Amino acid sequence: MAVGVFDSGLGGLTVLEAAQKRLPDTDFLYYADSAHAPYGVRTSDDIYGLTRGAVETLWSRGCDLVVLACNTASAAALRRMQEAGVPPGKRVLGVFVPLIEALTERQWGDNSPPREVAVKHVALFATPATVASRAFQRELAFRAIGVDVEAQACGGVVDAIEDGDMILAEALARSHVDALRRKMPDPEAAILGCTHYPLLQEVFQEALGENVRVFSQPDLVADSLADYLTRHPGMRGEGPAGFLTSGDPRRVSDGATRFLRRRIDFDAA
Ligand code: DGL
Repeated sequence: MAVGVFDSGLGGLTVLEAAQKRLPDTDFLYYADSAHAPYGVRTSDDIYGLTRGAVETLWSRGCDLVVLACNTASAAALRRMQEAGVPPGKRVLGVFVPLIEALTERQWGDNSPPREVAVKHVALFATPATVASRAFQRELAFRAIGVDVEAQACGGVVDAIEDGDMILAEALARSHVDALRRKMPDPEAAILGCTHYPLLQEVFQEALGENVRVFSQPDLVADSLADYLTRHPGMRGEGPAGFLTSGDPRRVSDGATRFLRRRIDFDAA
């Protein structure tokens, strides 16, 4: 069955696209919970309930493996879902760990104790809920010591992207970089900790300057998924693929088509 890919809205399409390029023989079923997006301004309990419901929808459609292509859902719900237990044969993965492994120059599954790493000053751009969860700092602390993380909650950016207002999204991204710089004038690296933000990667890079290394998730998550599927070939997805949404399929299809610059057709979940 297909590999499930979940996001609150369109952002996870950046991850889906990279995964499709990396794994051309794998089928994916994408689910956008557009009726409840954005997640980034919701409470942790709310995000947990919505994420659990969405993952159960993908499991019930036959996906054994579901990737939470959403940092907000990964931050608020992944650990809690795994601790509550998933049904036999089903798996759910998040998007934080591949990013942190890249930042800390670790190979997959390197569980050695935390150690000093090259980067010392890291800027994190994410949704208000992801920033409030401190999940990124927690996962980083398992792997690295002495890294100063300054987090910037990027209010409004996801709404603007979902509404197709890229001029507003770009202006907000620049103002969030300014706000970050007031707290950390010289970050060495920046994490785009929301799957909507790769669409604004050039804007972030330009506003941060060329000396700042910008880490973006899609390719990192795609590589890590390819690695996971090599180790768990039974989870490799084969049909039925497609796009589901809890929102209005026509509106979401139009948004997705604009977002990926190719025709995407969503069905009602
Ligand atoms: N794309 C999502 C993320 O990676 C979330 C956006 C939202 O719904 O606020 O965090």
